[in-house]
Amino acid sequence: MQQSIGIGLAGLGNVGAGVFKHLQANRTLLRERLGLDLEVRRIAVRDSARRASEGFPSALLTENWRELVEDPSVQIVVEVMGRREESLALILESIARKKIVVTANKALLAEHGREIFEAATKYGVPVFYEAAVGGGIPIIKALREALIGNHIISIHGIINGTSNYILTRMQEAGLSFPAALAEAQAAGYAEPDPAFDVNGWDAAHKAIILASLAYGFWVPTDKIFVEGIENLTSADFRFARQLGYGIKLLGIIKATSSTPGSEIEVRVHPTLVPEKHVLASVNGVFNAIAVHGNVVGETLFYGRGAGQDPTSSAILCDIAEAAEALANPRRNLGFMPHGLYGCCKPLDNILSEYYLRLCVEDRPGVIAKISGILGELQIGISSIFQPEADEEGSTVPLVMMLHTATHAQMRTALERIGALDCVCKPPQMIRAEHFS
Ligand code: HSE
Repeated sequence: MQQSIGIGLAGLGNVGAGVFKHLQANRTLLRERLGLDLEVRRIAVRDSARRASEGFPSALLTENWRELVEDPSVQIVVEVMGRREESLALILESIARKKIVVTANKALLAEHGREIFEAATKYGVPVFYEAAVGGGIPIIKALREALIGNHIISIHGIINGTSNYILTRMQEAGLSFPAALAEAQAAGYAEPDPAFDVNGWDAAHKAIILASLAYGFWVPTDKIFVEGIENLTSADFRFARQLGYGIKLLGIIKATSSTPGSEIEVRVHPTLVPEKHVLASVNGVFNAIAVHGNVVGETLFYGRGAGQDPTSSAILCDIAEAAEALANPRRNLGFMPHGLYGCCKPLDNILSEYYLRLCVEDRPGVIAKISGILGELQIGISSIFQPEADEEGSTVPLVMMLHTATHAQMRTALERIGALDCVCKPPQMIRAEHFS
């Protein structure tokens, strides 16, 4: 007689419905592989009458998630409600009742990861969250287990599919940002309110989770740098291509060194990526995460970062691991805090290379003034070109690639350059990454 494990599914939206469907469809396969039978015993929903009419078993439905948490036959709670306070309450309550938690809630983990894992440690209950980053890409398990013997030197990730779709369309079809966003919404990729996808914060929540996992402490949300893709123009893609780059929204996570106490940096922003680098070829809604470990070297994880099926695949992995953890209690509860790292690099000290596009008056002496400011601030120019004039002819774009400088140096440079009479619009600056 095989042991049966009871699952409580909190949420029956797109992801929850996918988990239910795939758990039923692959139940025999999972039973064969695990030697355990996985059975959904309770489902918390907002509108049980509607869900029953859609064919979900009415005997399992409840509109009160507490019933699911309090049900003694439920051993694993799968949180796919995607809310904040309610999801946090459900997770903490489940942990306190010694139920293993599976969640896809990246915003919640990024903001309350520390609190959640303090509770997990107190009660000795694992929390799994494979679906929180990269959809179906098994990046959490890779960092937590496969790369456990590595100091992580860097992580570079395309971790928001909607923004990657928009950037791909701007690059390949020359669309403006609003036109590419409208296309993403029409295709059903962007949410009706796509704010978190385009302002960088969806990727930032995922970057916080990856960084925290890689470096063993929960990275505070106010210690990271986040910039969205809203201000990119089709001209930037054109000029970047002429310079040999594509533009991607990257999550960049780095340790200054692998020595104890080393600072780490976490940032999300549009980034010039050399066309020859593999991340420049990751297009459309796909995600990809390059992890550099000090033992393994370079690794790359690629796949669908969103959608019902890839997300369900990640949650099935967590449910299977949770079922095994019930049988074999373990030390690794899903997050392994340690004290080798613990502080973030001050944002002003973060080093980068830069692309700078200016709209300037077409008259002698302009380049001298701009390069004079950069020179005074010890910022070197690696290349400079002045493409075709604007339609009215009195202003021209001026595009430069700048050598490595700190954020603080660049901020001062942009303030001083932007204040020049000969500079007609606010400067456009995009960071560049050479993966060295
Ligand atoms: N909205 C996200 C994306 C998927 O576009 O990648 C969920 O994290």
